[in-house]
Amino acid sequence: MRIGVLTGGGDCPGLNAAIRAIAHRAWMLGDEVHGFREGWAGLLGEGDSLPLTQDEIAGILHLGGTILGSSRTNPARSEAEMRQVEENLARRRIEGLVTIGGDDTLSVSAKLSARGFAVVGVPKTIDNDVPHTDYCIGFDTATDIVGEALDRLHTTAESHRRVMVVEVMGRDAGWLAVVGGVGGGADLIIIPEEPMSIERVVHHVQHRMETRQFSIVVVAEGARVEGIESQSSSAVDQFGHALLATRGIGTRIAEEIERRTGVEARVTVLGHVQRGGSPSMFDRVMATRMGVAAVDYLHEGRTGVMTASQGLEIVPVPFSDVTGRNRTVDRRFSRLVFEFNAAEEAESSQPHRH
Ligand code: F6P
Repeated sequence: MRIGVLTGGGDCPGLNAAIRAIAHRAWMLGDEVHGFREGWAGLLGEGDSLPLTQDEIAGILHLGGTILGSSRTNPARSEAEMRQVEENLARRRIEGLVTIGGDDTLSVSAKLSARGFAVVGVPKTIDNDVPHTDYCIGFDTATDIVGEALDRLHTTAESHRRVMVVEVMGRDAGWLAVVGGVGGGADLIIIPEEPMSIERVVHHVQHRMETRQFSIVVVAEGARVEGIESQSSSAVDQFGHALLATRGIGTRIAEEIERRTGVEARVTVLGHVQRGGSPSMFDRVMATRMGVAAVDYLHEGRTGVMTASQGLEIVPVPFSDVTGRNRTVDRRFSRLVFEFNAAEEAESSQPHRH
């Protein structure tokens, strides 16, 4: 077969491990592999691609980012661009395409698949919010980065008896905030799924300062806190998403805590640090398993699907089950934060599934 591969949307650690696995599995089966540059942009106009050889693939397993480049290009906005995508695939005699991306990339993949082209998706996003897969490539590494930042912020917070507000990525789902925050010992975690009032935040901080004299508050960039206004940006990308980093939710929370409690508060916005650097062992292995499965699915004719991690298995899940929705945080994770709150305490003392 002649297989195409692209990486779309925001980058993350582990993309190169997936590209490498796709190439190696394809070569084992006697295939050729072509990489498209900068996501769907590489399939527009005349197209921008390169045949992948050992030279491109050697030594990339541990490298962050993507050797193919990425972009938030959305060809599904116009029929003319979808035709360009098909023409570029046909011109290069590509028979099957592997798309590595989050919800946006997978939604374009679903449309291309519905038009009759053989596509298999591989989920990646540090937000970890793609449905029907336990993990997306990049998430594990990003949680380690959040955890390490919290370890470091603990010592300075304790020395100065301050509140540290840490803003992490997470547009629609708080997986990174919750898993990074629980592992890093945050005492309050604010996520998009569970809006919180500023009164509750302040109440928590006051109680915490009485007992421990410092506080670590983690907030996902897409979270809402009733009682404070965060800035909204009018700039949107090709998929209609606003740039959340400019909302300044972490800064606003820190200002409000300081104003209402008199306790010094500082904000750290982790931003793209969470998407950079070398992938964890877990992400390398997950990317390798999904890359191999994607090529196998193309050979088996199981297309229009995404490689999903479910328990110990990698399984094909139809695009129609994953696009246009988010996997939100499971209460079994978010209840692991031992925040001070009488009503919550009563509720969490009830038996739970773990
Ligand atoms: O890929 C998703 C994400 O990590 C979001 O959490 C965040 O809002 C966005 O990327 C930032 O993207 P960009 O690199 O375009 O600023």
